[in-house]
Amino acid sequence: MTPPPAQPKFPASFVWGASTAAYQIEGAAEEDGKGPSIWDTFVRRPGAVRDGHTGDVACDHYHRFPEDVALMRELGLDAYRFSLSWPRVLPTGEGKVEPRGLDFYDRLVDELLAAGVAPTPTLFHWDLPQALEDGGGWMARETAYRFGEYAAVVGERLGDRVRRWITLNEPFVHMSFGYGFGVHAPGRALLLDAVPAAHHQLLGHGLATAALRATAPGAEVLIANNCTPVRLRQDARAEADRAGAAAYDALHNRLFNDPVLTGSYPDLSAYGLVDPSWGGLVRDGDLEIIAAPLDGLGINYYNPTWITAPSSPEAGLPFDIVEPEEPYERTTFGWPVVPDGLTDLLVGLKARYGAALPPVWITENGCAAPAGLADRARIDYLAGHTGAVAEAMERGVDVRGYFTWSLLDNFEWAEGYHQRFGLVEVDFETQRRTPRASFDWYRELIAAQRARHRG
Ligand code: BGC
Repeated sequence: MTPPPAQPKFPASFVWGASTAAYQIEGAAEEDGKGPSIWDTFVRRPGAVRDGHTGDVACDHYHRFPEDVALMRELGLDAYRFSLSWPRVLPTGEGKVEPRGLDFYDRLVDELLAAGVAPTPTLFHWDLPQALEDGGGWMARETAYRFGEYAAVVGERLGDRVRRWITLNEPFVHMSFGYGFGVHAPGRALLLDAVPAAHHQLLGHGLATAALRATAPGAEVLIANNCTPVRLRQDARAEADRAGAAAYDALHNRLFNDPVLTGSYPDLSAYGLVDPSWGGLVRDGDLEIIAAPLDGLGINYYNPTWITAPSSPEAGLPFDIVEPEEPYERTTFGWPVVPDGLTDLLVGLKARYGAALPPVWITENGCAAPAGLADRARIDYLAGHTGAVAEAMERGVDVRGYFTWSLLDNFEWAEGYHQRFGLVEVDFETQRRTPRASFDWYRELIAAQRARHRG
C-alpha cells in the first residue's frame, strides 16, 4: 500500500514536472534525416558504455510519444522537461534544417498542450551534432554561434506555444565528463585544458538566450546547472581542506552560476588560470552576452560532494573527492541520499547571490533504484527531497517548480540501461511501460497539493 504523501506546503502556482532527454529516450537514431550526434559515435567506441549498450532505440519515444504523454496526463504533471536533439533539427548542426525533425517536436508540443502539460524544452542535453565536433566541438568558439542560430530556428517554430525554455543542461558535467575525463561523448580527456568547453557553452547560452527572446515572444529562459553543496569531512584539516573545497566549488558550481548571474568568472587561479582573459579565451563583450538577464535558474541536484586537500602535492588537481564518514543510504548508482544537501544548496545560493538570484527551478532530482515496481527507495528519496525544497522555501528561497528525473527508465549514458531512474518501468525488450509505486505516490502528491488549494 502506498503511504499517504508527505504534505509540505507548496503554493498553488508551484509547477510539478518530470524530466527526460532526447538521446536517453527517443531512439530513431537514424530516422527522418537525423544526423549523427557525438553520442551516436561514442557508444560505438569499444568499452565506452557498459555492455556496449546504445541509444539507437532507447525507449522508442520518437514513435511512442503519445503513450508517454498519456502517462504524464495520468500523473497530473503541470510541465514536462524534454530536450531537443540538435542533429534531428539541423543534421550537421548548421545550415539546412530537417523539416521532419522539427515536425516531430511540433507534434510533441501539441500533444503535451492537449494534455494540459506545459512543454519545457532544453536545447542542448549533450548530443552535439557530430559534424560540429569534427570542427572542434565546444572547444571551438564557432560552436557557440551555431548554438545561437539553432536556438533561433526552434524559437521561430515552437515559440508560439512554448513559454519556458532551458538553454543548456549541466555544462559542468558535459565539460568535465565529455572533454575533461572522456567518460562521456565526445570522449576527450583534456583534463584542465577542457575549460574552453565551459566558456564556449556559456557563450552559446547567452547567444541562445538572445535568439529565443528575439524569436519567441514572451519566452522565459533558464539554464539548468548541476550543483552540489561542497562538504568537508569531520576530520578536515582546517586551512588546506577549506582551500580544496573552495577550489572545487569554484569549478563545479561557481564557474557556471557566477557568469550567468553576476557577469564575472570566479577565481580559478588554483587551476592556473590567472590572467582575466584566461589566455585570450574570454573576449571583450563575452561576459555581457553570458549575463543576459534570466527568468530562472534551473538546478539539477543529486548529492553533495565531500572534498579534502589533495592527498599528494603532485596531484594534478587542487582537491580530492572523498567519501563521507556518515553511513548514508545509497542509490543503486552508489550515490549517497542526502536530502538536506538540497536545502543547504538552495539556501546557500540565496546567501551567495542575494538579489541577483532569479527564481529557482529544480530541473532534475531523482534516484536510481532497484528494478521492479515496488520502488520504496525512490518514494523515500522523493519524499525527502520535495520536503527539502519546502524547507528551503520556508527559509526564503523562491523555488517555482520541481521536475523529477526521470519519467521513464532510460539510457543512462556510460551505464547504458543498467541504472533505472524512472517513475515508469520500461521493458527494453518489449517497450512495455508500467508505472511503479513511485508513480502513484507522485500522482497523489500532486493531487493532494491541488486539493489543498481548492479546499
Ligand atoms: C543528467 C541526466 C542523467 C542524470 C542521472 C544528470 O546529470 O542531466 O541526463 O541521466 O543526471 O545521472
